[in-house]
Amino acid sequence: MSDKLIIFDTTLRDGEQSPGASMTRDEKVRIAKALERLKVDIIEAGFPAASPGDFEAVQAVARAVKETTVCGLARALDKDIDRAGEALKDAHSSRIHTFIATSPLHMEHKLKMTPDQVVENAVRAVKRARQYTDNVEFSPEDAGRSEEDFLCRVLEAVINAGARTLNIPDTVGYAMPEQFGRLIARLRERIPNSDLAIFSVHCHNDLGLAVANSLAAVVNGARQVECTINGLGERAGNAALEEVVMAVRTRKDFFPCHTDIDAREIVPCSKLVSSITGFPVQPNKSIVGANAFAHESGIHQDGVIKHRETYEIMSAEEVGWTANRMVLGKHSGRNAFRARMAELGVEFASEEELNTVFSRFKQLADRKHEIFDEDLQSLLNEADTEASEEYVKLVALDFSSGMGERPQARVTIKTGHQEHQADFSASGGVVDASLKAIESLLNTEAKLTLYSVNNITSGTDAQGEVTVRLEKGGRIVNGQGADTDIVIASAKAYINAVNKLQASNKRKHPQVDEVDV
Ligand code: KIV
Ligand code: ZN
Repeated sequence: MSDKLIIFDTTLRDGEQSPGASMTRDEKVRIAKALERLKVDIIEAGFPAASPGDFEAVQAVARAVKETTVCGLARALDKDIDRAGEALKDAHSSRIHTFIATSPLHMEHKLKMTPDQVVENAVRAVKRARQYTDNVEFSPEDAGRSEEDFLCRVLEAVINAGARTLNIPDTVGYAMPEQFGRLIARLRERIPNSDLAIFSVHCHNDLGLAVANSLAAVVNGARQVECTINGLGERAGNAALEEVVMAVRTRKDFFPCHTDIDAREIVPCSKLVSSITGFPVQPNKSIVGANAFAHESGIHQDGVIKHRETYEIMSAEEVGWTANRMVLGKHSGRNAFRARMAELGVEFASEEELNTVFSRFKQLADRKHEIFDEDLQSLLNEADTEASEEYVKLVALDFSSGMGERPQARVTIKTGHQEHQADFSASGGVVDASLKAIESLLNTEAKLTLYSVNNITSGTDAQGEVTVRLEKGGRIVNGQGADTDIVIASAKAYINAVNKLQASNKRKHPQVDEVDV
């Protein structure tokens, strides 16, 4: 019997810390539902003490998820742990994850604490977390650069205090696979009560080694891996869930463990995360990139046709790449629509909400004969955006262009109850003219640092999904918009980014105030 490898997904917490990847409460709930379908074991839903918005999002995920354990992050501070305990109160199964830094660098310069104080705080935090749940995880932050003797001391103490998962983070992505694997083996060997806890790892990808380090740890006895969809996360990201899971599954001859992940949900989940966060997946990304199973060279194509395994170690279907499956069309009724949405994990709060999204679906189906799951997800993205508190709304957009003509755009927007209109003519094209017309009305003075268009499905009638990244005063946001017309999609994306910029004014970064003890 092989051991179970616990998959702890932190897309909604560490993933959200990627600059520009912040998600609304409803977006988090949709991703959490997708993670539940994927059958991850634990969803780290956020950092409840970071802001009221984070608290509400963790609470909403805790209420929405029925099978998976929901976790909240907390610094080793009473107030953080109490907020996490409160946010998770309604979860059917909850975990509190508390952390404090243990590397000499962090203790001296960031925490300004002695090692004794760090041990004392760690133990106090774990004991407090145990008042809310038996399921407590402890992380010695920056373990990858901490002294082994000190790690042994802290970890032994927190196990005695009641921690049952010990997560070893390579916070800055500094470790090398062999060394990191050895560290896990030595901690398990040296800590006298180590058999009372599960060892976990949380690796960052600064040197592109997050997955390799995680797998080296698994070989050395780690039985939980913390990872994110598409490898999203702080700076260069975390270990990619899809890579860890498929490595363990494809090389079961090598790894003495298995996961419970439903691999067919990997690609749909990856697409959902990408469309909600506006972080496109690079085409050559393992498992979930558009080219991951595409064979260009004639020799490879010939080989795969004769026998798939000549050049493929996994099948595209196994990880959820299906040829775009038509799910609904213009003649589909409300019941079929509601049923497919339910299969995607979406329950409408009221008939009114269903009607709003259904009427959008009908409008889209008039323009596009076949509607795929990806189209339905984009309708939901749009409905979520509209339901959230919006500072500015797009009311109308007209544009004209032609060979030898100067592109023109006329845009109408609404802020509060007031409508504003502007005309703009720009040499760059109709997208350029439309975005400049909007900017001439809003004067955000934000810098546009990314503009990208992806087709959601295939065919010339596919919806284009546009991502716009804006930067202002150190804040970065990604806005998305989808439409069969990419000029309209671009205007929606720009306005979505402006609204997020406005909302981000009210939110602080989850790991600020680290030393505010
Ligand atoms: O990278 C890190 O150290 C973290 C901890 C909070 C586990 O994200
Ligand atoms: Zn991290």
